[in-house]
Order: sequence, then C-alpha cells, then structure tokens
Amino acid sequence: MRRPILAANWKMNLTSADVSAYTNRFIPLVADAKDVDIVIAAPFTLLDRLANELAGTAIQAAGQNVHPEESGAFTGEIAAAMLADMGCAYAIVGHSERRALFGESSAFVAKKASALLRCEIRPIVCVGETLQQRDAGRALEVVETQLRESLAEIPGEQAEQVVVAYEPVWAIGTGRTATPEIAQEVHAHIRKQLSAQFGEAGNRIRIQYGGSVKPETVYDLMNQPDIDGALVGGASLDPEAFSRIVLYQNQRNP
Ligand code: 13P
Repeated sequence: MRRPILAANWKMNLTSADVSAYTNRFIPLVADAKDVDIVIAAPFTLLDRLANELAGTAIQAAGQNVHPEESGAFTGEIAAAMLADMGCAYAIVGHSERRALFGESSAFVAKKASALLRCEIRPIVCVGETLQQRDAGRALEVVETQLRESLAEIPGEQAEQVVVAYEPVWAIGTGRTATPEIAQEVHAHIRKQLSAQFGEAGNRIRIQYGGSVKPETVYDLMNQPDIDGALVGGASLDPEAFSRIVLYQNQRNP
C-alpha cells in the first residue's frame, strides 16, 4: 500500500508575512488527515519561516529546486545541504517550468535528484509532455525518456525515497485537468517503467499527478490505481482549497 502524498507548490508566490497567516489557517484544517503525507514547497526565502511554523506537525517543507554541486562558485544557486539545513524533507526537481524556461535537461535533473538523496532529502521528480507532443501521439514516449534520463543516477537501494510527479504541461495553470483516465494511462506506464528499473521497489514509488488539481477533481484522480498523490500549484495558494485537496476522501461528488 502506497501512502498518499499531497504537495503544494507555491511557485514564485507569497512573502514572509503570508506564511504564518497560511499555516495558522491550514494546520488546524488538516489536523485529522493522518494517513497522508503533506508537503509544502515554498520559495527558498520562506523555507526557514515555514519549517518553523510546521514544527510539531507532520507537514513537511520542501524546496522547489536545487543545484547539484555541494558548494562553490554558483551565484544565485542553493545546494542540497542548504535545503537540509532549512529543514526540508523533499525538493522538487525537473519541474516543466524549469525545463522549458530555464533549459534544464533530464541529465541535469538526474544530478539534482542524486544530490538531494546524498543529503537525505526526497526528490520529487517531475515529467510531462507538451500539448504538441500529446497531439502527435508521443506522450508516453516523451514521459518514458524524461523518466529514464532523470532517474539514471538513483541507486536502487534509495529508489523508494523518490516521488515521481506526472505533470502534463498542457494541464498546468490552464484549468484543464487531465481526466482521471488519461492520467492513469500515463501513471500505469510510469509504474511499469519503475518496476522494470527498480524491481519490487518500483512498485512502492509514489506517483503524483499535477496540473490544475482542485478540490472538485482530486477525488476521482486519487481513486485511480496508480495515482498516489497530487502536486498542486494555483489551488495550493489558498489554505482552504489545499486543505480540501489533502482531505480528498471527503470530496467525493454526490
Ligand atoms: P497548477 O495546479 O497551477 O496547474 O500547477 C501545477 C504544477 O505545476 C504543480 O507543480
């Protein structure tokens, strides 16, 4: 049984004053959510404050990116040990915005993921096709290649630490969630690939769906056999909406 993992990705939003307003509202709303992992990926500048606010709860802070080197002349970058120092348990790598806007390759993402594992941070490795690739019938092939290259440096014994996030680019920030069936088709493909690479451990790796997830859509997505969580952008900026996503079991449509 894979433990569900619901993660907020705040992207480049919010400032320090917003953090306690958010956590003061969010923490009590999810107090009853015992059987899920809850993660908030915040901008680097907010991590210290966020981790402090989350102390004593089971909610974990995450980075949104990392640089693969341990230290050195990399102006503007953040190392895995620095995220660990801020209390991060997870970090996102290979988000489509980083791949598209900052030219990050899967080989670079692979280095980031292994740098995180060396610091005992769990990587959330994102993959996903563009609309053009989907329309050309290449969705599975694109995701497969991204995944193979992005996980190329994960040692088998650490495979279970990894979380994979399938985020179709055409569904991010567009209000257009993939249907549960479309998402499941890709998740099943990812699962097969994880099992081929990591054996039994591949079956225990959690695969999140991301792309316009909302309280209204989360239940049916989570009900699919290979969807083990959600990575939520826009809706996660509202603590009430994100709490309903965390409590997805209560969101079943009548
Ligand atoms: P939205 O939920 O805003 O579509 O963003 C998804 C995403 O990119 C999460 O990483």
